[in-house]
Order: sequence, then C-alpha cells, then structure tokens
Amino acid sequence: DKAGHKHFMAKEIAEQPGVISQALDHYLSADGQVELPEPGIDFTQIDRLTMVACGTAYYACLTAKYWFEQIARLPVDVDVASEFRYREPPVSDRTAALFVSQSGETADTLAALRYCEGKASRILSVINVTESSIARESDLALPIYAGVEVGVASTKAFTCQLSVLFLLVLKAASDRGVIDADTMADHVSALRGLPSAMGAAIEMNDTMRRAALRLAEARDVLFLGRGVMYPIALEGALKLKEISYIHAEGYASGELKHGPIALVDKTVPVVVMAPRDALFDKTVSNMQEVMARKGKVILISDRDGLDEASEGVFASIEMPRVSDAVAPILYAIPAQMLAYHTAVAKGTDVDQPRNLAKSVTVE
Ligand code: M6R
Repeated sequence: DKAGHKHFMAKEIAEQPGVISQALDHYLSADGQVELPEPGIDFTQIDRLTMVACGTAYYACLTAKYWFEQIARLPVDVDVASEFRYREPPVSDRTAALFVSQSGETADTLAALRYCEGKASRILSVINVTESSIARESDLALPIYAGVEVGVASTKAFTCQLSVLFLLVLKAASDRGVIDADTMADHVSALRGLPSAMGAAIEMNDTMRRAALRLAEARDVLFLGRGVMYPIALEGALKLKEISYIHAEGYASGELKHGPIALVDKTVPVVVMAPRDALFDKTVSNMQEVMARKGKVILISDRDGLDEASEGVFASIEMPRVSDAVAPILYAIPAQMLAYHTAVAKGTDVDQPRNLAKSVTVE
C-alpha cells in the first residue's frame, strides 16, 4: 500500500520524520540517557571498532566513523563487506565488530560477521529486519525501527541507521567519559529536533523537483561534501545512479582538484552538500573552482550558507539549520529526493530499478 503516493520510495521518504522519532523513543530515556537492549555493551572494554556493510549501509558506517572518532574519541575502521571478508584482516579481542544491514541477510555482510566470530570481543549489529540471520548471530542486535522498506533504493532505513548509530556514539562517549552532561544534552536535543527539520526539508519538494529536471538531462553528475557530509555525497550519487541510471560520483570536496575537476564543463551538474559548518569556507572555495569551469552548481545549505555563497549558483536548496553533527541525517533527504525526482522525470522504474534486488543474498 503506497498510502496515496505514486511510489513506495516517495512514501518511504515521507515516513522518515515519524520513524526516526519512534526509533529515538525506543532508545532514549525520559532524562535523555541512551538505553540499549540486554546485554548492552560496555565501551570501556574495547579500544577499536570495526564497521562492515554494503551499499547504503556502508555509507551509514562511513558517516558514523566521523561521529565515533570526534564525539567518542574511539578509533574506527570501516570496510565494505566483500573486501573485508576476503582480506582476512587481523581483529584483536579489544575490538568490537559492528555490522549494519537493513535486511540482515546480505551474504557478504553475514560472511564478514562469521569471520569475526571468536576474534572480535563483541559482535554488534544495526538491522531493520529483527528476524534475520545477522540479528540472530550477533551478541547485541540494535533494531532501527524503520518498518518495512519496499523500494529497492534505501531511504528511511538509511536515516534510521544513522540515528541509531548516533545514539550508539553517545553511549560510547558516555562510557568512555569523554562527554560532559551539557554536550550530551545538546546532542540529544539536536536528534529530537530532527523529525521536524526533516519535515521542513520534505516541504522543499518543488524546489528539488525543479533542480532534478536539470539532472535528468545530464550524462554525468558530481556530488561533493566534506567531513560528515562526504558520505552523504556518496549516498546522493549512489541513489541517483541506482534509480535514474545517470552516471554519478560522490567526492570529498578536497579531492576535486586531484582528478575529477577534469570532468567539469557546462554540461556537468555538481551537487554541493554544505551546511554552514566549520568546513563551509573550504567547500565554497571548491565550489567556486567548479563555477569557474562553468559547472552547474546545485548548492544545498542552510539560510546562512546560502546568504553567503549562493551567488552564481545554478540552483539552491534551503535546509533548516541543525547542529553540525546531525546535519548528515537531514541532508540525506535532498539526496534522496533529487534522485527520486530525476528518476520520475526520466520515467524509470523507481521502486524496482533494473538489475537490482532489494536484498543481495548472493556473494
Ligand atoms: O540489506 P542491506 O542493508 O545489507 O543492503 C545493503 C545494500 O545492498 C543496499 O543498501 C543497497 O546499496 C541499496 N539498494 C541502496 O539503495
């Protein structure tokens, strides 16, 4: 049932404020503490976290690496499952291994989990389907409470994964004694503010649809982001290629001049994901390098960022202002909606893109 939407993907995008708010309710106590299901995890017992996943779930891990390192001061490795398992990396008994999967059945992710059994100190997972192999074989499985996701392109599972991972980061920071009560409360209130900010982002539908008309004409599209926004640039590119079949690449903004800028000319739209955070000026200077080569910039930022930097851009999309840390969760929405509207404009099969399966149970 698409609940009045044209596609499951549109329905699942629209559901995000509601499901995120439910996920937060499951993990946050009334006094703003993170509560995990039994047996929980004690982050004082580990020195390192290894995160493994595929596709969009891998980008959730990449985003969480920034959070774990910055907020919880915990070193993190992130790998795609098909690389991790065959590389057979050493895993110490002071390492926890964390697997992220919507379906809980992705063959490579499950094989990577089995590889870590008996090596890692704990096997954790962040899953949507609670009756899944990955959930069953973990010491601690954390559900994301996204509800059934039908569209092959993952949307609400991604933002719910990010939200649950952020809560896990807060738990790690608190166990490790590296966060004070005020900072903790600020992060919790930023999370609590997300559903309404996401609702406001979804309201920007018409602006995104117009920008997508430009993307639909392109052969190649670049997505740029820095810091926590870099994995969201990767996710934006994956969403676009997956459902619109347009070639798209995500890059860390600072990498532009090390190769990809050679692609830029007036036919190449460049989507820049840049909230007005500490790295904003750096990203803007990369964006200006694109404009100097006549690239068509679609700038996604907040009011302050757009006031400062939207001159000369092809299109701008305004996001509400949220904390720098939770911004990637919010900016996933325009990444999804640009892809959605581009696919609709091109007339592709949004919910069942060619060559793809919802759950990849082959290696
Ligand atoms: O079920 P999983 O989260 O393990 O699936 C991982 C990937 O196959 C999945 O995220 C895929 O990349 C999506 N189609 C992306 O939209």
